[in-house]
Amino acid sequence: MKTVLVTGANGQLGNSIRQRVVGYPGYAFLFTDVDTLDICDASAVHAYVKEKKVDYVLNCAAYTAVDKAEEDEALCLRINRDAVRNLGEAAHRVGARVIHVSTDYVFDGTNYLPYVETDVTCPASVYGRTKLAGEQALQEACPDAVIIRTAWLYSEYGNNFVKTMLRLGNEKDEIRVVFDQIGSPTYAGDLAVAILTILEKAEGGSFVPGIYHFSDEGVCSWYDFTVKILQLAGLKARVLPIETKDYPAKAARPHFSVLNKAKIKATYGLTVPHWEESLHACLKLSGNLSKQ
Ligand SMILES: NC(=O)c1ccc[n+]([C@@H]2O[C@H](COP(=O)([O-])OP(=O)(O)OC[C@H]3O[C@@H](n4cnc5c(N)ncnc54)[C@H](OP(=O)(O)O)[C@@H]3O)[C@@H](O)[C@H]2O)c1
Repeated sequence: MKTVLVTGANGQLGNSIRQRVVGYPGYAFLFTDVDTLDICDASAVHAYVKEKKVDYVLNCAAYTAVDKAEEDEALCLRINRDAVRNLGEAAHRVGARVIHVSTDYVFDGTNYLPYVETDVTCPASVYGRTKLAGEQALQEACPDAVIIRTAWLYSEYGNNFVKTMLRLGNEKDEIRVVFDQIGSPTYAGDLAVAILTILEKAEGGSFVPGIYHFSDEGVCSWYDFTVKILQLAGLKARVLPIETKDYPAKAARPHFSVLNKAKIKATYGLTVPHWEESLHACLKLSGNLSKQ
């Protein structure tokens, strides 16, 4: 039986993993969040990993409030960089493996082709800079970690874009949504399956460290995404496309966030669903799918 520490387990991804572990009986999962294991506390992290004899660390913890981060850089750095280093050092010391999650925000979004792992990073926000610093800190502390950059994450849990659009679609006749930011919506359940697949492959002797990109298949704008959410939910609000400049936010968003997934698919044999298929599944699970 292998012991798997899941940090930040009360968030979207952590809960999505928790929901799916029944299919993985060969592992003892330890689900923790800031109240049970604050990953900023280096000595607590070292003690926990040693005492529980952790074999794998799945780091789902992060500071994810992108706009708030612009005025909260110190805390954002502590969670997204320093705490990731703590996990890497603790894992490396006992020979445990780390699977860590990062973001498309490490890029500035000026590409016109899907980003590959070797593309030059150039974060345009505090959140993006701290996540990139976390990747680097982890690679120094634990060189054989797997780092998965993902984008546009949503789920049945916590606050996310899908939930916001469902609320607005119920409250308003008209919703204005940006159409000049392009990416791939990613259901946290699909990322959870990808991470659990990597865990299984690792046990089978096929753990290949490095940086990987993962999102659901397909590409759309936030506007297109909203149209689909409302259509599947049977909500009649009109969706109007607007430009990013007409929706000012504190943190800059990449205009182009599409990630090339060829490496993770080839290395770990993943089959990735299309975002529309996964959106349908998520809305159905959360009781938001229209009956018609
Ligand atoms: N959401 C997206 O669109 C998106 C896109 C690309 C990449 N990502 C990345 O994907 C990963 C998962 O994101 P998510 O949406 O699941 O995040 P999330 O829902 O915000 O969950 C993060 C969890 O980490 C916890 N946490 C914060 N500080 C901690 C600490 N010091 N010790 C332990 N736990 C702590 C949070 O607790 P509190 O809520 O109490 O702070 C929360 O439960 C993150 O690495 C994120 O950067 C997300």
